[in-house]
Amino acid sequence: MKLLVTGAAGFIGSTFVRTVLDDRPGDEIVVLDKLTYAGRRENLAGLEDRIEFHVGAIEDRAAVRDAMAGCDAVVNFAAESHVDRSIAGEEGFAVTHVIGTTILLEAARELGVDRYLQVSTDEVYGSIEDGTFTEASPLDPSSPYSATKAAGDLLVSAHAHTYGLDAVICRGSNTYGPRQYPEKLIPLCVLNALADDPLPVYGDGRQVRNWLWVEDFARAIDVVLREGARGEVYNVGGPDELENIDVVRGILAACGRDESLIEYVRDRPGHDRRYSLSADKTRALGWEARVRFEEGLERTVAWYRQNEWWWEPIRSGEYREYYERQYGRALAG
Ligand code: NAD
Ligand code: TYD
Repeated sequence: MKLLVTGAAGFIGSTFVRTVLDDRPGDEIVVLDKLTYAGRRENLAGLEDRIEFHVGAIEDRAAVRDAMAGCDAVVNFAAESHVDRSIAGEEGFAVTHVIGTTILLEAARELGVDRYLQVSTDEVYGSIEDGTFTEASPLDPSSPYSATKAAGDLLVSAHAHTYGLDAVICRGSNTYGPRQYPEKLIPLCVLNALADDPLPVYGDGRQVRNWLWVEDFARAIDVVLREGARGEVYNVGGPDELENIDVVRGILAACGRDESLIEYVRDRPGHDRRYSLSADKTRALGWEARVRFEEGLERTVAWYRQNEWWWEPIRSGEYREYYERQYGRALAG
């Protein structure tokens, strides 16, 4: 199979590429990535000879057609992925998630691609107080990030329905692990803890997230790509739900720091209280999560401790300015 993987220089896309090449060394991979602040070539280090890398945007029709020509399937990870950045300015989110997805879908149709997979998120369902979202739950997104992701999902369904495109959607819950850009809760707190910087907890810290180990999500996407039924949605909820404050305490313990580093800060506007996602339909395809949160967090902290070469340029670059804008204080160091 020859796969076009968009957004593969990011956190989950790069893990997916590694998973596919490990499991099926004969597969060919073409990458299309715009290399935003979150897209890093070093995420694919060691695989340079095994992939064809195109620097380009999914909203650029010519770049998309060039990269997609001859591919059997498309897996779209390309996204602006951070809720707080979407609250600060949503245009880039609309361009990538709505226009970009449209351009990809049109090209997939015109070039006769056999299968299109859209990577999406539990955030399109909004917040849930009790119970768990299934694939039948209505979409009720609450941030510009999740609203534009939901729009992308609806376009995928519309193309499947109207033009018969063989498309599937795979929605994951909060994902964590190596190579996640440090704007997200877990890597942000790990790096702050290691630097003895305060760990910013939004609001009362009692919001609940459903955590999924990145390699488990990557395997699920690959299973849905190969086994999922045309036109269907598959949810991939992780095995553990935790309050943010317990995640932060776990990070402090794993980093050997005490709770005096916790700092409660102003809440995120419109902050979703709880996410909870089913995985039964994906399990029925033969997938199972392998890594529980406690073990995954240990592995994540160990990876960040051992890979300063990866995060040091980030922490001393654009991220430093972002952090000051977002948190109103400078990072240590
Ligand atoms: P990320 O921010 O780490 O990576 C996004 C990648 O997309 C980067 O390499 C970036 O350069 C690229 N990109 C952005 N805009 C582009 C464009 N217009 N054209 C081409 N490339 C572009 O994100 P991630 O955490 O790896 O998320 C990947 C996908 O998984 C996203 O669709 C996201 O919505 C979804 N998802 C993420 C999570 C999570 O917890 N991180 C959970 C569920 C679903
Ligand atoms: P995040 O990693 O941004 O993922 P998402 O918003 O997609 O769930 O945030 C996870 C949770 O952690 C979310 O409830 C917001 C909270 N959070 C903080 O309390 N402090 C922070 O500095 C960040 C980035 C997030």
